[in-house]
Amino acid sequence: MKNILTGITPSGTPHIGNYIGAIKPAIEKSKSNSQDNYFYFLSDYHALVKCQDARLVEKYSLEIAATWLALGLDTSKAFFYRQSRIEETTQLSWILTCLAPKGLLNRAHAYKALVDENIQANKDKDKNISMGLFSYPILMAADILLFDTNLVPVGKDQIQHVEIARDLANYFNKTYEDILVLPEVDLACDDVLSGLDGRKMSKSYQNTIELFASEKELRKKIMKIATNSLAPGKAKDYNTCTLFKIYKEFATSGEIEEIKKAYEDGIAWGEMKNILFEKINKTLSGAREKYKYFIENKHEVENILEAGEEKTRKLAKEKLDTIKYALGLRSFC
Ligand code: TRP
Repeated sequence: MKNILTGITPSGTPHIGNYIGAIKPAIEKSKSNSQDNYFYFLSDYHALVKCQDARLVEKYSLEIAATWLALGLDTSKAFFYRQSRIEETTQLSWILTCLAPKGLLNRAHAYKALVDENIQANKDKDKNISMGLFSYPILMAADILLFDTNLVPVGKDQIQHVEIARDLANYFNKTYEDILVLPEVDLACDDVLSGLDGRKMSKSYQNTIELFASEKELRKKIMKIATNSLAPGKAKDYNTCTLFKIYKEFATSGEIEEIKKAYEDGIAWGEMKNILFEKINKTLSGAREKYKYFIENKHEVENILEAGEEKTRKLAKEKLDTIKYALGLRSFC
C-alpha cells in the first residue's frame, strides 16, 4: 500500500493541458481497485506566492475543486482538501525551515532563475523575490512529508522540489528519529500537450484551451490552432501537427489510425479542426455540465472539501504529534 500525493496550485483556470497531463491520469488511478491512498489537494498557500489578488485566489480555487469533482474524483476514497485548511502543514513547514540548509534552497531552480535574471539585468539580485518564493520548496516538502508520501506524480519542473523534500526528510531522520518517509517522483504524467501556437500548452504562454470553455469558445480556440499552409489533397505530416497531438489524447487507437490515414490522404485543415472540435466537445460535454453545476452550487463544493479536510486533518495531527515529540516539543509529564 502506497501513499500517493500531488498538489494543484490554484493560479489559473484549468486547461486541456492540465487535464491530459495531470487530472485525467490522477482520477483514473484513484478509481482503480488499488489499496493505495490518494491525496489530491489545492496548494492554495503556494498560490499566494504567484497571485496576490484575493478574488482570483478564491475563483481559481473553486474552479479547480469543481473541475476535479466534475471529472469524477471519488472523494470517498481520495483525500481531497485545501492546503490552507490543514494547519499542520505550515507548522511542519517551520520545523523543516529550521533544518533546511540555506545553500540547498539557493540552488532551487525557480529561485535561482529569478536571481540570475536580476543579475543579467543589472538589478539588485533580490528584486521582486519574496521569502515565499524562496521557501516554496520547504512548504512543498511539508505537504509531502506530513502524509508519509511514497510517490509524488508531478511534471519534470517539479522533480527538484521532490528531491529537496527527500533531502529534508533525510536530515530530519538523521538529526532526530527515523520517522519521515522518503518520497519519490512518479513522472508518468509528464506528457506535455501542445498549445494553440504549437509550444507546450501553458498559462504562461497564453496558448491554452480552457477545459470547460463553452462550446462556442471551444470551437473558436480550435479554429485558431496554428497549422502549416498545405492545401487540401496534399499529404500532411501528423507527427509534427498540433491538431493531431491534441486529437490523439482524446481518441481511441482505432480512431488514431484512421486519422493518420486521413493525413496521408491530404485531409483539409478545416475538416481536421472540425473533427478535433467534435471529439473534444463530445468527450467533455457531460463533465462541462457538472462543472457548471458545481460552480453554481459552490456550497456543495465547500461541503465536500470540508468533509475531506476533516478526514485528512486526523492523519495530519497524528503525524505532527509524532514529529513534535521527536523534536522535544513534548509534555513535561
Ligand atoms: N508546486 C506544485 C506545482 O505548482 C504544486 C504542489 C504544491 C505540489 N505542493 C505539492 C505538488 C506537493 C506535489 C506535491 O505544480
